[in-house]
Amino acid sequence: MTYQNLLIQDEGKIRVITINRPDKLNALNKQTIRELEEAISDVEKNPDIRLAILTGARAKAFVAGADIAEFSSYDSFEGEDLARQGQHRVFDRIHHASKPFIAAINGFSLGGGLELALACHIRLASTSAKMGLPEVSLGLIPGYGGTQRLTQLVGRGKALEMILTADMVAAEEAAQIGLVNQVIPPEELLATAMVLANKIASRSGTAIEQAIRASNASYDHTQNGYDVEITAFGACFGTDDFKEGVSAFLEKRKPNF
Ligand code: COA
Repeated sequence: MTYQNLLIQDEGKIRVITINRPDKLNALNKQTIRELEEAISDVEKNPDIRLAILTGARAKAFVAGADIAEFSSYDSFEGEDLARQGQHRVFDRIHHASKPFIAAINGFSLGGGLELALACHIRLASTSAKMGLPEVSLGLIPGYGGTQRLTQLVGRGKALEMILTADMVAAEEAAQIGLVNQVIPPEELLATAMVLANKIASRSGTAIEQAIRASNASYDHTQNGYDVEITAFGACFGTDDFKEGVSAFLEKRKPNF
């Protein structure tokens, strides 16, 4: 598929997906949501790709939120549909993906932009990144999972402080509260994300898929996460990666997954 608002670049087993609407600070309009849905499916289906890095075009913004102009005349029904479609097609798909997604947060990551980073499995931020959920300043609340995933990541008190004040946090504070894993100078952000991605790509893909599934279950009230872990652990024993990983250890060589 050719994309209007995404740039796709493969480096070995890593796919870099760049949201590319810099004139609108990479805001997520419907077209971009549709394209992200397609790009996520493609990562999942492509056996040559082991994980993805999500970032934004130009240094100013990762993603400055959902496209405010596009939803400005929506009614309640359309607003609910916007949130439901976005969550199902993109945000939940990333959260539950069988391959890891790393957010490389290069600038403003606001509203839907922070929610996109929150749906990813790991977040790296440039020193110049600013993050927030400013929706209450628009008479809205976060609609792409922000009230849930921010609360899970940083705890109720800090999440509600960010949501109720609409204030942004800078990268260093984001790292202190556990919102991002690492803070990196802007010029090194993508290279650092690539090193991390390559390390993950050298591990067992089938084990990584099960690890994500089991970890996600800890926040899913419909499942017992410990039971999910037990069955996921068992499933690993039936894989070629298990045979290769254990053989490699016993033969004192590196595994080739
Ligand atoms: N939706 C649609 N357009 C957006 C946007 C969004 N979420 N965020 C930025 N833009 C557009 C601006 O309208 C402007 O377009 P224009 O040049 O055609 O007028 C362009 O991107 C540049 O943004 P601008 O506001 O001029 O840049 P700034 O440096 O003055 O401010 C921000 C940067 C991020 C502080 C500001 O753009 C902002 O607050 N954006 C909205 C953030 C938000 O509320 N997100 C949650 C949405 S639910």
